[in-house]
Amino acid sequence: MEFFEVVNKRRTTREFWNKQVDFGIIKKILEAGNKAPTWDHNRNWKFIVLRTDEEKEYAFEYAKSIADKFDAEKYLNFPRPYPITLGQKMYSYAMPRQFTMLKEAPYVIIPLFKSKELSGEYVSKLNPFATIWCVIENIFLAATAEGLSCSMRIPLNKEHDIVKEKLKAPPSYMIPVFIGIGYANPKEQKLEQYETDIDKQIRFGRWK
Ligand SMILES: Cc1cc2nc3c(=O)[nH]c(=O)nc-3n(C[C@H](O)[C@H](O)[C@H](O)COP(=O)(O)O)c2cc1C
Repeated sequence: MEFFEVVNKRRTTREFWNKQVDFGIIKKILEAGNKAPTWDHNRNWKFIVLRTDEEKEYAFEYAKSIADKFDAEKYLNFPRPYPITLGQKMYSYAMPRQFTMLKEAPYVIIPLFKSKELSGEYVSKLNPFATIWCVIENIFLAATAEGLSCSMRIPLNKEHDIVKEKLKAPPSYMIPVFIGIGYANPKEQKLEQYETDIDKQIRFGRWK
């Protein structure tokens, strides 16, 4: 697939088809992840791969409890002093799927990057975190190029440490995201996006 076709095609998926994926393709996608720029030249990322229902149910108990508790109708109909935003519509669609979008994916990839804790004191202190997000985006694009789609869940607050402990990850590593990979259900609802206008975003020389 041509590069700009891949970029335009990539969308977050939250409903997968019940169709197996060759693990050779997953390895190819992770290798594309490894081609991302790296701030310290080490590329010492790890990838935990979950394949079975048992593994996913065990790892994502917390995500399941959040999804089960979420009342989409209540959230959508909550009185607001302004019209509902597309972000809020996305949230009401995404929240009930935070567990199923991982469980139904044939593979869940959990990238790990070396860092004990994050400090946002200076942007440069976030380099380990920034690097792993370069890896993650390569994974999304490579999956799209292979005709696959990805779901993503960012561990919420203490969910990070809970999952890390369950997976027996060493203390010196952190988990930025859980990625489900599989074939997208072609009938999945397409969420509306805001249009961006690149001409309004570009500033030459300085802000104004
Ligand atoms: C930093 C970041 C965090 C996100 N967290 C979640 C998440 O926890 N759960 C989820 O379902 N989607 C999550 N998303 C996906 C966004 O909802 C999605 O990218 C956005 O709605 C735009 O849709 P698109 O990816 O299809 O273009 C996240 C995306 C980013 C970049």
